[in-house]
Amino acid sequence: ASQLRFISSPKTVAPRPGVDHGPIHIVNAGIIDQLKGLGWNVEFGGHHQFEEVSAESDPPIGKLKNPRLVSRVTNAVSNTVSDHAKQGRLVLTLGGDHSLASYGNDLSQFPDATVVWVDAHADINTPHTTESGRCQLKGCLFPSDELVLPGNIHGMPVSFLLGLPRDEETATLSWVPPVLKPNKIVYIGLRDVDAGEKKILKDLGIKAFSMHEVDKYGIGKVVEMALDHVNPNRDLPIHLSFDVDALDPTVAPSTGTPVRGGLTFREGHYICEAIFETGLLVGLDLVEVNPTLADSISIEQTVKVGCSLIRSALGEFITRYTKSITERS
Ligand code: ARG
Ligand code: MN
Ligand code: MN
Ligand code: MN
Repeated sequence: ASQLRFISSPKTVAPRPGVDHGPIHIVNAGIIDQLKGLGWNVEFGGHHQFEEVSAESDPPIGKLKNPRLVSRVTNAVSNTVSDHAKQGRLVLTLGGDHSLASYGNDLSQFPDATVVWVDAHADINTPHTTESGRCQLKGCLFPSDELVLPGNIHGMPVSFLLGLPRDEETATLSWVPPVLKPNKIVYIGLRDVDAGEKKILKDLGIKAFSMHEVDKYGIGKVVEMALDHVNPNRDLPIHLSFDVDALDPTVAPSTGTPVRGGLTFREGHYICEAIFETGLLVGLDLVEVNPTLADSISIEQTVKVGCSLIRSALGEFITRYTKSITERS
Protein backbone atom coordinates (compact mmCIF):
# COMPACT_ATOMS: atom_id res chain seq x y z
CA ALA A 1 0.00 0.00 0.00
CA SER A 2 1.59 3.19 -1.08
CA GLN A 3 -0.82 5.35 0.86
CA LEU A 4 0.83 7.60 3.34
CA ARG A 5 -0.77 10.04 5.63
CA PHE A 6 1.24 12.13 7.89
CA ILE A 7 0.68 14.60 10.56
CA SER A 8 3.04 16.82 12.35
CA SER A 9 2.60 17.42 16.00
CA PRO A 10 4.77 20.25 17.11
CA LYS A 11 3.45 21.25 20.45
CA THR A 12 4.50 19.18 23.37
CA VAL A 13 6.57 20.05 26.34
CA ALA A 14 10.23 19.26 26.69
CA PRO A 15 12.72 20.33 29.32
CA ARG A 16 14.00 22.89 26.86
CA PRO A 17 11.65 24.82 24.63
CA GLY A 18 11.82 24.63 20.87
CA VAL A 19 11.22 21.01 20.05
CA ASP A 20 7.79 22.01 18.74
CA HIS A 21 9.46 23.71 15.78
CA GLY A 22 11.13 20.53 14.51
CA PRO A 23 8.28 19.27 12.34
CA ILE A 24 7.86 22.56 10.52
CA HIS A 25 11.53 22.50 9.56
CA ILE A 26 11.24 18.95 8.26
CA VAL A 27 8.24 19.88 6.12
CA ASN A 28 9.95 23.04 4.89
CA ALA A 29 12.99 20.97 3.97
CA GLY A 30 10.79 19.26 1.39
CA ILE A 31 9.87 15.92 2.93
CA ILE A 32 6.48 15.86 1.15
CA ASP A 33 7.95 16.06 -2.33
CA GLN A 34 10.75 13.71 -1.37
CA LEU A 35 8.22 11.05 -0.37
CA LYS A 36 6.11 11.67 -3.46
CA GLY A 37 9.32 11.12 -5.39
CA LEU A 38 9.54 7.67 -3.83
CA GLY A 39 6.10 6.88 -5.19
CA TRP A 40 4.02 7.56 -2.11
CA ASN A 41 0.62 9.13 -2.32
CA VAL A 42 1.14 11.68 0.43
CA GLU A 43 -1.61 13.42 2.28
CA PHE A 44 -0.36 16.03 4.69
CA GLY A 45 -2.70 16.53 7.62
CA GLY A 46 -1.16 19.88 8.52
CA HIS A 47 0.62 21.05 11.58
CA HIS A 48 -1.26 20.57 14.77
CA GLN A 49 -0.94 23.69 16.81
CA PHE A 50 -2.02 23.91 20.37
CA GLU A 51 -2.46 26.99 22.42
CA GLU A 52 0.16 27.73 25.02
CA VAL A 53 -0.82 26.82 28.51
CA SER A 54 0.92 28.93 31.07
CA ALA A 55 2.62 27.44 34.09
CA GLU A 56 -0.06 29.04 36.25
CA SER A 57 -2.90 27.24 34.55
CA ASP A 58 -1.07 23.90 34.29
CA PRO A 59 0.76 23.39 37.59
CA PRO A 60 2.60 20.09 38.11
CA ILE A 61 0.65 17.07 39.31
CA GLY A 62 3.07 15.25 41.57
CA LYS A 63 6.30 15.55 39.60
CA LEU A 64 4.64 15.64 36.18
CA LYS A 65 5.41 18.82 34.28
CA ASN A 66 2.66 20.41 32.16
CA PRO A 67 0.46 17.34 32.57
CA ARG A 68 -2.76 18.84 31.19
CA LEU A 69 -1.17 20.29 28.08
CA VAL A 70 0.79 17.13 27.29
CA SER A 71 -2.29 15.03 27.88
CA ARG A 72 -4.45 17.18 25.63
CA VAL A 73 -1.89 17.29 22.84
CA THR A 74 -1.05 13.61 22.91
CA ASN A 75 -4.72 12.71 23.04
CA ALA A 76 -5.43 14.86 19.99
CA VAL A 77 -2.47 13.38 18.14
CA SER A 78 -3.47 9.87 19.06
CA ASN A 79 -7.04 10.36 17.81
CA THR A 80 -5.87 11.92 14.56
CA VAL A 81 -3.35 9.17 13.96
CA SER A 82 -5.87 6.43 14.60
CA ASP A 83 -8.41 8.05 12.26
CA HIS A 84 -5.83 7.99 9.47
CA ALA A 85 -4.65 4.49 10.32
CA LYS A 86 -8.24 3.24 10.16
CA GLN A 87 -8.34 4.40 6.54
CA GLY A 88 -5.57 1.93 5.86
CA ARG A 89 -2.83 4.46 5.57
CA LEU A 90 0.63 4.28 6.96
CA VAL A 91 0.94 7.20 9.35
CA LEU A 92 4.13 9.18 9.75
CA THR A 93 4.13 11.40 12.82
CA LEU A 94 6.70 14.14 13.19
CA GLY A 95 7.50 15.43 16.65
CA GLY A 96 7.76 17.34 18.71
CA ASP A 97 8.90 15.42 21.64
CA HIS A 98 8.69 11.75 22.34
CA SER A 99 5.79 12.07 24.75
CA LEU A 100 3.54 11.79 21.71
CA ALA A 101 4.85 8.40 20.53
CA SER A 102 1.61 8.14 18.52
CA TYR A 103 0.30 6.87 21.81
CA GLY A 104 -0.89 3.47 20.98
CA ASN A 105 -2.62 4.27 17.73
CA ASP A 106 -1.09 1.53 15.67
CA LEU A 107 -1.14 -0.74 18.63
CA SER A 108 -4.87 -0.51 19.11
CA GLN A 109 -5.34 -0.57 15.35
CA PHE A 110 -3.12 -3.62 14.96
CA PRO A 111 -3.41 -5.70 18.15
CA ASP A 112 -0.43 -7.85 17.10
CA ALA A 113 1.82 -4.90 16.34
CA THR A 114 5.39 -4.90 17.55
CA VAL A 115 7.37 -1.78 18.42
CA VAL A 116 10.97 -1.07 17.49
CA TRP A 117 12.07 1.85 19.66
CA VAL A 118 15.30 3.48 18.50
CA ASP A 119 16.59 5.89 21.14
CA ALA A 120 19.46 6.78 23.46
CA HIS A 121 16.85 6.59 26.20
CA ALA A 122 14.33 3.96 27.30
CA ASP A 123 11.54 6.52 27.93
CA ILE A 124 10.03 4.05 30.39
CA ASN A 125 10.06 6.15 33.56
CA THR A 126 6.89 6.33 35.58
CA PRO A 127 5.82 9.48 37.43
CA HIS A 128 7.45 7.80 40.43
CA THR A 129 10.81 6.79 38.96
CA THR A 130 11.44 10.02 37.02
CA GLU A 131 14.64 11.59 38.29
CA SER A 132 16.77 14.62 37.63
CA GLY A 133 19.80 14.27 35.42
CA ARG A 134 22.64 16.22 33.92
CA CYS A 135 23.41 16.83 30.30
CA GLN A 136 25.71 14.01 29.28
CA LEU A 137 27.39 15.82 26.47
CA LYS A 138 30.56 17.77 27.02
CA GLY A 139 30.82 20.68 24.66
CA CYS A 140 27.12 20.90 23.93
CA LEU A 141 25.52 24.30 23.80
CA PHE A 142 24.05 24.07 27.25
CA PRO A 143 26.40 23.53 30.18
CA SER A 144 27.18 19.86 30.67
CA ASP A 145 26.37 20.15 34.35
CA GLU A 146 23.02 21.76 33.72
CA LEU A 147 20.46 20.03 35.89
CA VAL A 148 17.42 18.68 34.08
CA LEU A 149 14.61 18.47 36.60
CA PRO A 150 12.46 15.35 36.90
CA GLY A 151 8.93 15.02 35.60
CA ASN A 152 9.45 15.24 31.85
CA ILE A 153 6.72 13.22 30.24
CA HIS A 154 8.84 12.53 27.16
CA GLY A 155 10.81 10.17 29.42
CA MET A 156 7.65 8.14 30.16
CA PRO A 157 5.61 7.15 27.07
CA VAL A 158 6.54 3.48 27.13
CA SER A 159 5.45 3.12 30.75
CA PHE A 160 2.06 4.57 29.88
CA LEU A 161 1.67 2.28 26.89
CA LEU A 162 2.51 -0.68 29.12
CA GLY A 163 -0.09 0.42 31.64
CA LEU A 164 2.43 0.81 34.46
CA PRO A 165 1.27 2.46 37.71
CA ARG A 166 -1.87 4.46 37.35
CA ASP A 167 -2.97 6.61 40.24
CA GLU A 168 -4.05 10.15 40.95
CA GLU A 169 -0.72 11.42 39.60
CA THR A 170 -1.31 9.87 36.21
CA ALA A 171 -5.06 10.46 36.10
CA THR A 172 -4.66 13.17 33.50
CA LEU A 173 -3.07 10.61 31.17
CA SER A 174 -5.42 7.79 32.08
CA TRP A 175 -6.92 7.82 28.58
CA VAL A 176 -3.71 6.27 27.20
CA PRO A 177 -4.67 2.71 26.31
CA PRO A 178 -2.42 0.08 27.90
CA VAL A 179 -1.96 -1.62 24.56
CA LEU A 180 1.64 -2.72 24.76
CA LYS A 181 2.99 -5.98 26.19
CA PRO A 182 6.60 -6.16 27.39
CA ASN A 183 7.48 -8.85 24.83
CA LYS A 184 6.20 -6.69 21.96
CA ILE A 185 8.77 -3.92 22.24
CA VAL A 186 12.48 -3.96 21.54
CA TYR A 187 15.00 -1.15 21.93
CA ILE A 188 18.03 -0.28 19.84
CA GLY A 189 20.64 2.37 20.70
CA LEU A 190 20.21 2.76 24.45
CA ARG A 191 23.02 4.39 26.41
CA ASP A 192 21.41 6.66 28.99
CA VAL A 193 18.99 4.68 31.12
CA ASP A 194 17.94 5.83 34.58
CA ALA A 195 18.22 3.54 37.61
CA GLY A 196 14.45 3.15 37.97
CA GLU A 197 14.18 2.37 34.26
CA LYS A 198 16.81 -0.36 34.47
CA LYS A 199 14.76 -2.04 37.17
CA ILE A 200 11.57 -1.87 35.10
CA LEU A 201 13.33 -3.26 32.02
CA LYS A 202 14.75 -6.10 34.08
CA ASP A 203 11.56 -6.90 36.00
CA LEU A 204 9.49 -6.99 32.82
CA GLY A 205 12.16 -8.82 30.80
CA ILE A 206 12.16 -6.21 28.05
CA LYS A 207 14.77 -6.79 25.37
CA ALA A 208 17.18 -3.96 24.67
CA PHE A 209 20.16 -3.70 22.36
CA SER A 210 22.33 -0.95 23.76
CA MET A 211 25.25 0.67 21.97
CA HIS A 212 27.39 -2.03 23.58
CA GLU A 213 25.60 -4.68 21.53
CA VAL A 214 25.76 -2.52 18.41
CA ASP A 215 29.55 -2.37 18.84
CA LYS A 216 29.81 -6.06 19.65
CA TYR A 217 27.61 -7.58 16.95
CA GLY A 218 27.30 -4.87 14.34
CA ILE A 219 24.07 -3.20 13.35
CA GLY A 220 23.03 -5.87 10.83
CA LYS A 221 23.06 -8.62 13.44
CA VAL A 222 21.44 -6.38 16.06
CA VAL A 223 18.45 -5.59 13.84
CA GLU A 224 18.11 -9.27 12.99
CA MET A 225 18.19 -10.27 16.67
CA ALA A 226 15.79 -7.48 17.60
CA LEU A 227 13.28 -8.62 14.97
CA ASP A 228 13.80 -12.28 15.94
CA HIS A 229 12.75 -11.32 19.44
CA VAL A 230 9.54 -9.38 18.72
CA ASN A 231 8.69 -10.71 15.31
CA PRO A 232 10.27 -14.16 14.88
CA ASN A 233 8.24 -15.16 11.82
CA ARG A 234 8.35 -11.69 10.30
CA ASP A 235 4.59 -11.68 10.03
CA LEU A 236 3.47 -9.05 12.55
CA PRO A 237 2.97 -5.32 11.89
CA ILE A 238 5.84 -3.07 13.00
CA HIS A 239 5.65 0.43 14.45
CA LEU A 240 9.01 2.21 14.31
CA SER A 241 9.50 4.98 16.85
CA PHE A 242 12.74 6.77 16.00
CA ASP A 243 14.14 9.37 18.39
CA VAL A 244 16.80 11.31 16.54
CA ASP A 245 18.95 11.37 19.70
CA ALA A 246 19.67 7.68 19.06
CA LEU A 247 22.17 9.02 16.54
CA ASP A 248 25.48 10.32 17.75
CA PRO A 249 25.38 14.05 18.53
CA THR A 250 28.02 14.60 15.84
CA VAL A 251 25.42 13.31 13.36
CA ALA A 252 22.27 14.85 14.87
CA PRO A 253 23.32 17.73 17.12
CA SER A 254 20.03 19.66 17.41
CA THR A 255 18.18 17.66 19.98
CA GLY A 256 17.17 18.27 23.59
CA THR A 257 18.92 15.44 25.39
CA PRO A 258 22.02 14.50 23.39
CA VAL A 259 24.19 11.62 24.65
CA ARG A 260 27.63 10.81 23.32
CA GLY A 261 28.46 7.47 21.76
CA GLY A 262 25.43 7.03 19.52
CA LEU A 263 24.58 5.43 16.20
CA THR A 264 26.49 6.49 13.12
CA PHE A 265 24.69 7.98 10.13
CA ARG A 266 24.73 4.62 8.36
CA GLU A 267 23.71 2.58 11.40
CA GLY A 268 20.62 4.77 11.84
CA HIS A 269 19.77 4.47 8.16
CA TYR A 270 20.39 0.74 8.12
CA ILE A 271 17.76 0.24 10.83
CA CYS A 272 15.21 2.18 8.77
CA GLU A 273 16.06 0.32 5.56
CA ALA A 274 15.91 -3.07 7.23
CA ILE A 275 12.52 -2.33 8.75
CA PHE A 276 11.18 -1.14 5.40
CA GLU A 277 12.53 -4.27 3.80
CA THR A 278 10.37 -6.46 6.04
CA GLY A 279 7.31 -4.98 4.34
CA LEU A 280 5.66 -4.89 7.77
CA LEU A 281 5.91 -1.20 8.64
CA VAL A 282 2.56 0.26 9.65
CA GLY A 283 3.55 3.40 11.54
CA LEU A 284 6.53 5.66 11.97
CA ASP A 285 7.46 8.44 14.41
CA LEU A 286 10.45 10.73 13.90
CA VAL A 287 10.85 12.81 17.02
CA GLU A 288 13.06 15.15 19.04
CA VAL A 289 14.46 17.29 16.25
CA ASN A 290 14.85 20.62 18.06
CA PRO A 291 15.92 23.40 15.75
CA THR A 292 16.36 26.02 18.43
CA LEU A 293 19.23 24.32 20.17
CA ALA A 294 22.14 24.92 17.87
CA ASP A 295 23.78 27.02 15.20
CA SER A 296 22.23 27.05 11.74
CA ILE A 297 24.66 24.49 10.31
CA SER A 298 23.84 21.97 13.04
CA ILE A 299 20.13 22.59 12.61
CA GLU A 300 20.27 22.03 8.87
CA GLN A 301 22.35 18.90 9.40
CA THR A 302 19.85 17.48 11.90
CA VAL A 303 16.78 18.34 9.80
CA LYS A 304 18.40 16.74 6.74
CA VAL A 305 19.27 13.61 8.67
CA GLY A 306 15.67 13.46 9.91
CA CYS A 307 14.35 13.66 6.33
CA SER A 308 16.85 11.10 5.21
CA LEU A 309 15.88 8.61 7.93
CA ILE A 310 12.23 8.99 7.00
CA ARG A 311 13.00 8.37 3.33
CA SER A 312 14.98 5.27 4.23
CA ALA A 313 12.16 3.90 6.37
CA LEU A 314 9.82 4.51 3.44
CA GLY A 315 11.86 2.72 0.87
CA GLU A 316 14.42 5.07 -0.60
CA PHE A 317 17.21 2.55 -0.94
CA ILE A 318 14.98 -0.29 -2.08
CA THR A 319 13.01 1.83 -4.53
CA ARG A 320 16.10 3.24 -6.14
CA TYR A 321 18.05 0.07 -6.62
CA THR A 322 15.59 -2.78 -7.00
CA LYS A 323 14.05 -0.95 -9.93
CA SER A 324 17.27 -0.56 -11.83
CA ILE A 325 18.26 -4.16 -11.07
CA THR A 326 14.91 -5.39 -12.41
CA GLU A 327 15.18 -3.20 -15.46
CA ARG A 328 18.62 -4.52 -16.18
CA SER A 329 17.66 -8.20 -15.95
N1 ARG B 1 15.54 9.55 31.14
C1 ARG B 1 15.45 10.99 31.08
C2 ARG B 1 14.11 11.46 31.66
O1 ARG B 1 13.27 10.64 31.96
C3 ARG B 1 15.64 11.50 29.68
C4 ARG B 1 14.53 11.15 28.75
C5 ARG B 1 14.80 11.65 27.37
N2 ARG B 1 13.72 11.34 26.49
C6 ARG B 1 13.56 11.83 25.28
N3 ARG B 1 12.46 11.52 24.62
N4 ARG B 1 14.45 12.64 24.74
O2 ARG B 1 13.89 12.64 31.81
MN1 MN C 1 11.47 15.72 24.43
MN1 MN D 1 12.85 9.28 23.19
MN1 MN E 1 15.97 10.04 23.52
